[in-house]
Amino acid sequence: MAKTNAGILGTGHSYPEGILTNADLEKIVDTSDEWITTRTGIKQRRKAAPNEYTSQFAVRASREAIQRAGLEAADIDLILCATVTPDQILPSTACLIQVQLEANQAAAMDIVAACSGFIYGLSVADTMIRTGQSKYALVIGAEILTRYVDYTDRGTCVLFGDGAGAAVLGAVEEDRGILAAKIRSDGRYEEQLYAPGGGTKGGFTAETIARGDHFFKMKGNELFKVAVRSMADVSREVLDSAGLKTDDVNLFIPHQANQRITDAVANKLNVDSSIVYSNIAMHGNTSSASIPIGLDECVEAGRVRQGDVILMASFGGGVTWGGAVVRW
Ligand code: ACO
Repeated sequence: MAKTNAGILGTGHSYPEGILTNADLEKIVDTSDEWITTRTGIKQRRKAAPNEYTSQFAVRASREAIQRAGLEAADIDLILCATVTPDQILPSTACLIQVQLEANQAAAMDIVAACSGFIYGLSVADTMIRTGQSKYALVIGAEILTRYVDYTDRGTCVLFGDGAGAAVLGAVEEDRGILAAKIRSDGRYEEQLYAPGGGTKGGFTAETIARGDHFFKMKGNELFKVAVRSMADVSREVLDSAGLKTDDVNLFIPHQANQRITDAVANKLNVDSSIVYSNIAMHGNTSSASIPIGLDECVEAGRVRQGDVILMASFGGGVTWGGAVVRW
C-alpha cells in the first residue's frame, strides 16, 4: 500500500457576536487601553452570552470545515475536541458535538492540553490517519474562557476571549499534509496557569465558588519565558524532523497569547514578521481555538496556497507545548 500523510482538507471557525473591548475593561478593573495594547497587543476579545456554550461554536466551525472538505458529517470517524472549558463534566464536549453534527460513525473524545490542545489533536489525528485507524478526523479547538476568568484580576481578565476553530483531516500524498508534529508537556510548571477548584482535589462547594477557585490563576511573567523558549524550540524540532529550515516557511501561525510573545518567538527563529500571522488584536487569547481560528482566517483571506509550508506552534497551561509543520 502506498504511504500517506494526513492533510488538512477543510477548515472553519466561529465566535460569539459579543465583543469586550479594552474600553469596556477599563470600567471593570484598574487597567487602561494603553497598558493592554502595549503589553499584549489586544484591543478586543469575543465574549459569549450567558446562554451560549462551547459546543455551539464548535459545531458551527465543524460544519464549515466538513463542508469545505467536501464531506458529510457521516464521513467523519474521529472527533477530537480540544477544550479546557467543556459544556459540562460528562459526557465529553466531543460527544455533544457529535450528536449535534449527527456524525454517528465517529469515536469522540476531548483533549485537555490548554492552548496546545489543537496541536495535540493534530498530532493524534495524524497518527490515526497514517496508521489507517481513521479515514476522516475532525479536530476542534473550542473555548468559552470568559466563563473562567476572574474579572477582579487585571493580570488575567484582559487576556482571554471565546471562539472555536476546526479542521478536517484525511489522507493525502506523502509529500503533502502534516510533515512533522511534536507534542510535549511538563507538569512541574502546574502553578503557572491553573484553576484549583471544581475537581476531586479542590472540590466544588459554596466556599470554593465564593473564593473563586474555579477561575484561572496565572504567573504571567514566568509563563512568558517558558512560552517563548518552548515555542521556539518545538518549531525548530518539527522543522528539523521535516528536513526544512525557517527560510522554507511561507506562513507561521503561533498560538495567540501575547503579541510580545509572538514577536519574541519570531525573533528567536529569525523569521520575517511578514510571514507571521497575528489576530491577537481582535480575539485576544482563545486558548485551543487560537491556531485553528488563525488558520481558517488565513485560508479565507487567500493567504494559503497549495504547496505552502505552514508552521504552527503553541504552549499552554500544564504546561504543554507542541508544533506542527504542514505542506498545504
Ligand atoms: N492593567 C494595568 N496594569 C497591569 C495589568 C493590567 N491589565 N496587569 C498587570 N498590571 C501591572 C502589574 O500589577 C504590575 O504592576 P507593578 O509593577 O506595580 O507590580 C505591572 O503591570 C507589570 O506586571 P507584569 O506581570 O510584570 O507585566 P508583564 O509585562 O509580564 O505582562 C502579561 C503581563 C501580559 C500577563 C504577560 O506576562 C503575559 O502575557 N504572560 C503570558 C501569559 C499567557 O500567555 N497566558 C496564557 C497561557 S495560554 C493557556 O494555556 C490559556
